[in-house]
Amino acid sequence: ASSSEEKDLVIIGGGVAGYVAAIKAGQEGLSVACIEKRGTLGGTCLNVGCIPSKSLLNNSHLYHTILHDTKNRGIEVGDVKLNLANLMKAKDSSVTGLTKGVEFLLKKNGAEYIKGAGSFVNENEVKVALNDGGETTVKGKNFLIATGSEATPFPGLEIDEKRVITSTGAIALEKVPETMVVIGGGIIGLEMASVWSRLGAKVTVVEFLGQIGGPGMDTEIAKATQKLLKKQGLEFKLNTKVLSGDTSGDKVKLNVDATKGGKEETLEAEVVLTAIGRRPYTAGLGLENIGLELDERGRVIIDSEYRTKIPHIRCVGDATFGPMLAHKAEEEAVAVVEYIKKGYGHVNYGCIPSVMYTYPEVAWVGQSEQDLKNQKIPYNVGTFPFSANSRAKTNLDTDGMVKMLADPETDRLLGIHIVGPNAGEMIAEGTLAMEYGASSEDIARTCHAHPTLAEAFKEAAMATHSKAIHF
Ligand code: FAD
Ligand code: NAI
Repeated sequence: ASSSEEKDLVIIGGGVAGYVAAIKAGQEGLSVACIEKRGTLGGTCLNVGCIPSKSLLNNSHLYHTILHDTKNRGIEVGDVKLNLANLMKAKDSSVTGLTKGVEFLLKKNGAEYIKGAGSFVNENEVKVALNDGGETTVKGKNFLIATGSEATPFPGLEIDEKRVITSTGAIALEKVPETMVVIGGGIIGLEMASVWSRLGAKVTVVEFLGQIGGPGMDTEIAKATQKLLKKQGLEFKLNTKVLSGDTSGDKVKLNVDATKGGKEETLEAEVVLTAIGRRPYTAGLGLENIGLELDERGRVIIDSEYRTKIPHIRCVGDATFGPMLAHKAEEEAVAVVEYIKKGYGHVNYGCIPSVMYTYPEVAWVGQSEQDLKNQKIPYNVGTFPFSANSRAKTNLDTDGMVKMLADPETDRLLGIHIVGPNAGEMIAEGTLAMEYGASSEDIARTCHAHPTLAEAFKEAAMATHSKAIHF
């Protein structure tokens, strides 16, 4: 079989990048097909990434709070029990609700959803091995590669998603392990370590670098965060490299070596999570049939309008350059459709926020203090601790701080970093401010409601160019 009409746009991959592009293309009046092989739309993010991990983070936090943080609030609770199967069911129902919702949105916007694996036959045609059997071909005026990413395997450790797991196994364990070692103290590592530690596992995080948080996290904020996570029971081994693993015994064994002159030792755990980063996924896409090359990290090479060297074939999201974040993929998806339809689009790569959904949350936008130092860019810095914020005090939730960095001459904001309650929501204000080129004084002169956590944000802005009132 073959699709008779030629589409204005054919999208391969129905993750955040692909499905958002499909909806936007439909809205712009383009005829569009979106090919996805998973069986559900939403990609990594909705199926095995952002959404299920946040469900587990939210509910494990609630459980942990009920266990450890009620007495001083005047709440006496009785027998508290974990029902892991139901915790997982709650996660599954969030995922199903959202992926079905996306399918409805595609239909509503006139985008065709083809369930199967797409592969380029030539520059104008994609062949689809349909999930239900059989094959079809789709012709297009434009193509979008939106095939996303996959976990980078750890050499020598075979993933079975039971004892040696990636994030996909970590959102689906059937019992709480007694011990867990996490390889990689980046965002996946710390979010998943938090979940399983709150549910009762003894978790050790092994990180190659001297700080946690992965790329981009401000060093001062990373140190403060590590202290808070340690207080919750997580153990850290920084400057430590995992050299090799052995799964032959009862426990998984890892050989580690302190990179800064320490000794080699062996760690043992019931479950090992490998979280050493993700890599672009383009297997089976038939790139060899159209002569498209990848860079040394497997990314599809594109120009500033997301065009590959074949101009009507473009790529956005995790499969190409930039941070592997859902909201980055979404911005690019809208922009790429605008480029196709109107010839212009917009993504401000200097203003893409990052959020780590641990407790407390860590969020940032723009440059870190060490970024500025490395580039010898002068800056003013202002900080404000949540321990001096009235709402945080009322909520008995005072860990963390807001930190702002601004140009000493113009006061224009260069970076904003928060660790604290609701940091992930608060960073939206910082992102908007930076998008509009605001100064710290602009924020400080904006009235913020009392009593809110956001007042800590305003006071950090005051501290950046002048002085905070309450600290
Ligand atoms: P993907 O979501 O990976 O989608 C690509 C899709 O293409 C997949 O569904 C795949 O099946 C399909 N596909 C691939 N090849 C073919 C083919 N040949 N034919 C048909 N279909 C194909 N980001 C955030 O911003 N916030 C978070 O909180 C967050 N949490 C995360 C938690 C975890 C555990 C993980 C792993 C990731 C998380 N991310 C988060 C990152 C986020 O999931 C990705 O940045 C995002 O999914 C990228 O979107 P994408 O559409 O480019 O790729
Ligand atoms: P990451 O790149 O954030 O962190 C990986 C960490 O592993 C790094 O700190 C690295 O130094 C360390 N590492 C690498 N090799 C090691 C070794 N041999 N031994 C010890 N440590 C080692 O990657 P991660 O956490 O896997 O996440 C992948 C992507 O998914 C990220 O790009 C992230 O943006 C995205 N993501 C985003 C989330 C969010 O926005 N909340 C949540 C989860 C994932």
